[in-house]
Amino acid sequence: MVARNNPFTPGFGQVPPFMAGRRYVIENIDDAFTNGPGDPNLTTIFTGARGTGKTTLLTLLADHAEEKGWVSARVSSVPGMLEDILQQAERSAANLLKSPTRVRLNSVGIGGVASLGWEYTNQTGADPNWRTRLTKLLDELESHGSGLVITIDELQSDFDEMVQVASVYQHLIAEGRRVSLLMAGLPYQVSRILNDRSISFLRRAARHHLTRIADDDIRTALLETIEGGGRSITDDALGTAVEAIDGFPFMMQLVGYRMWTQADNGTIDLPAARRGIGAAQYEMRTNILETTYMELSDGDLAFVEAMLPDEGPSSTSEIARRMGKSTGYAAQYRRRLLEEGVIGERGRGKVGFELPGWRTFIAEKLEDGF
Ligand SMILES: Nc1ncnc2c1ncn2[C@@H]1O[C@H](COP(=O)(O)OP(=O)(O)OP(=O)(O)O)[C@@H](O)[C@H]1O
Ligand SMILES: [Mg+2]
Repeated sequence: MVARNNPFTPGFGQVPPFMAGRRYVIENIDDAFTNGPGDPNLTTIFTGARGTGKTTLLTLLADHAEEKGWVSARVSSVPGMLEDILQQAERSAANLLKSPTRVRLNSVGIGGVASLGWEYTNQTGADPNWRTRLTKLLDELESHGSGLVITIDELQSDFDEMVQVASVYQHLIAEGRRVSLLMAGLPYQVSRILNDRSISFLRRAARHHLTRIADDDIRTALLETIEGGGRSITDDALGTAVEAIDGFPFMMQLVGYRMWTQADNGTIDLPAARRGIGAAQYEMRTNILETTYMELSDGDLAFVEAMLPDEGPSSTSEIARRMGKSTGYAAQYRRRLLEEGVIGERGRGKVGFELPGWRTFIAEKLEDGF
């Protein structure tokens, strides 16, 4: 049998060959890159639990922007971010120059950008020159019809450099500049940031909360990835895999990756799928479920425990009754767990678990007495 490269991408932030779902978000932001200044989607915040695909989306969208002639600066919220934005932008501008198919800018202009000669300071926090330097870069880009997309991953509250970016960005938008700011973070971090008065401007950003992906979309992407990679899968194996993935993007990559290696003669049949799923479940547990569990408070756990007797979705008032508390008390944990991505809404007043394998995992933990 010919060994074929595994097409699945279970690494964090890797853009898969076939994205499941997320179609509208991607389209809306792609359109914003075409429309340019004034399109509200140019300023967007993604939130979602671990492994829902925030980093992947930022990378994918920045790639799309570059294909449309924008320059991108891709950073995370860590000290040195301001400087990093300028350096990344410069690098992206230089790359644009190197790939002739993508160039919409003329080389003279790019040469100008690349040779602006940034002074790399070690300064973190407020840098009075930062706005000037960024503006200079934008002037250069804009004179050649290009703009700058800044992506900021892993948003953190209480981060001075973010305050600086937000305040400068606000001015740039007011000036009608060709800039875009796409951000991503865990829901509770983002809520904290948006409550910070010094960056309240970001409250007006478009927001997308990434939740589970529809089974049909998972099925299609799984099939396309397997067939695109040169192997096949039987119907029953595909059905079983979709069920185990339970709409969770990271799990799709884990299951796909492990099933792929189990395929005999290039076909993934039911036994191969089951073996792959078993391996994926183990990894899901160590990567996502354990980490999430460690972050839960006693109150969160009590809420989760009160959901376990229900096979399907649980009603919030019933959960409160089981906890022996008021609905107001239960509601505060409901909100926290929604933000952590542990539970999701299932229609009026009902919630269900969002993480694949969570029910079994947590039942075992509780049996062990935490
Ligand atoms: N729409 C999608 N379809 C299929 N796979 C996806 C999709 N989005 C992301 N993935 C895959 O899911 C995994 C997790 O993605 P990613 O690292 O972007 O998540 P994240 O939300 O940034 O997680 P974290 O909060 O831990 O940083 C990766 O293996 C990625 O390839
Ligand atoms: Mg990430």
